[in-house]
Formats: sequence, C-alpha cells, structure tokens
Amino acid sequence: MHNKFTDNNQIGLVSTFEELVTTKFVGAINAICWHRTLVGDFQEVVAKLQLKENVTDISAKTLLALHLSQEGSIARNIVLNDLKLLEDFGASPSLNLLKSYERDEEFDFISTDVYSYHVDRSPIAADTFLCTYYGAASEILPNNQVEQKVLIPEVRQKLWDLYKGSEPGFEDFLKEYFFDLHYQPTPHANPLNLGVGHLWKLAVDHPEQSVLPCVHRAPKENDGEYRLLLIC
Ligand SMILES: [Fe+2]
Repeated sequence: MHNKFTDNNQIGLVSTFEELVTTKFVGAINAICWHRTLVGDFQEVVAKLQLKENVTDISAKTLLALHLSQEGSIARNIVLNDLKLLEDFGASPSLNLLKSYERDEEFDFISTDVYSYHVDRSPIAADTFLCTYYGAASEILPNNQVEQKVLIPEVRQKLWDLYKGSEPGFEDFLKEYFFDLHYQPTPHANPLNLGVGHLWKLAVDHPEQSVLPCVHRAPKENDGEYRLLLIC
C-alpha cells in the first residue's frame, strides 16, 4: 500500500476495522487511518437527506427510509456498516449532515470553535473516530508544527486581561472556557487533509493518554455543499 499517508510519521495506516481499534498510538503517531477507497454514490445520499439544522443528526432509520439508486444504496450500506462496527465496539457514533458549525467570533485573538486547530479532551479514556463520506474533510497538524495559543505571550496577556482574577485560578479559567485546547500553526506548518472515505482514530487528551493529542480542525465547507460525516 502506498499513498499520501504512507510516509507521514504522525500516521499509522491499517486496512481493517479490527486493526483500527487495536492499533495503539505510539511516539509521534497520534492518528490511525483505516485507508479505504469507497464505492457508491454518497452525493445521492446527501442530496436526498434533509437538513433540519446546520448540524443535523441522521439516524440509521432515516437512512434506511431513503429511496436510493443501486449506487446510492451501496453508499448507504457502507455508512450503516460503519455505524454498526463502532456501536458493537462500544462507541456512540453520530452521523451528521452538516452545513456549518457555529462560529466563535467573540474575540479577535482566539477562537474556540472547531474551525480553529484544537485537540479534543475527555474525562475518561476515549479516542475520536471520524470519517468524512462527502464534502470537505478535516485537517490535522503534527504537534511540532503548532503552538498552544495560551502560551503565545500576546494571547496570554489578552486572556489575562479578560480574566480579571488572581493568579491561582488562571489555569482553571483557561480550561473552563476551552482556551487551552486551541493551537496556532507555526509559520511553515503543513496541514494534512484527512480525505474522504477513510475512517480515522485520533488521539484525545485524557488522563490515561500516553501520546500528545492530535491537533485537528474542521475544514471550511465547499460552497453550496453539505458534508456527510461520522463522528464519535
Ligand atoms: Fe475536535
């Protein structure tokens, strides 16, 4: 197997779901990719789904009720199978039809929405699973190409001004408002697009984590196009 992920030292490549869930993060590897070339017509599935909110949760039942061509039906079966694999594994996957996520534009020096490079955090041991079936795909960066925003002096100063408290509570304040989860790419950072069809496992910040959490962001959506993605 050779592809654009093969020579990336942040990525572990696997070829089955079983390997995806059993392969551990190690060293700089904090993203594992079940590499797939999907067949079927995902565009048809997206066209026949109804957007109810900007992020619409799609149930298996809704998918099953769609009248699809043979190609559309092949795509649907892939999605249903992924949902089942993850549920059987004990995860709680969501399937989202997505126009856009909410933007955080409160401050000009930091944003805490998912379009900003960030890591996920969980109070318990868990990984993020992610597959974009249709539309623009998420991006990741190696940890040596980012700087935590709260450690950038100018940003830290502005957050301190915002905080208006005393020193001991400042770190808690940064955590409470998720400022500490966000990262600034370094000037020559080279983001990697996760592509469509692959099922990814990304390292999350949690108490038992042994590697650095995977820095990622949601892409700007393509004009007039909804994304279809699985996430948990
Ligand atoms: Fe995230």
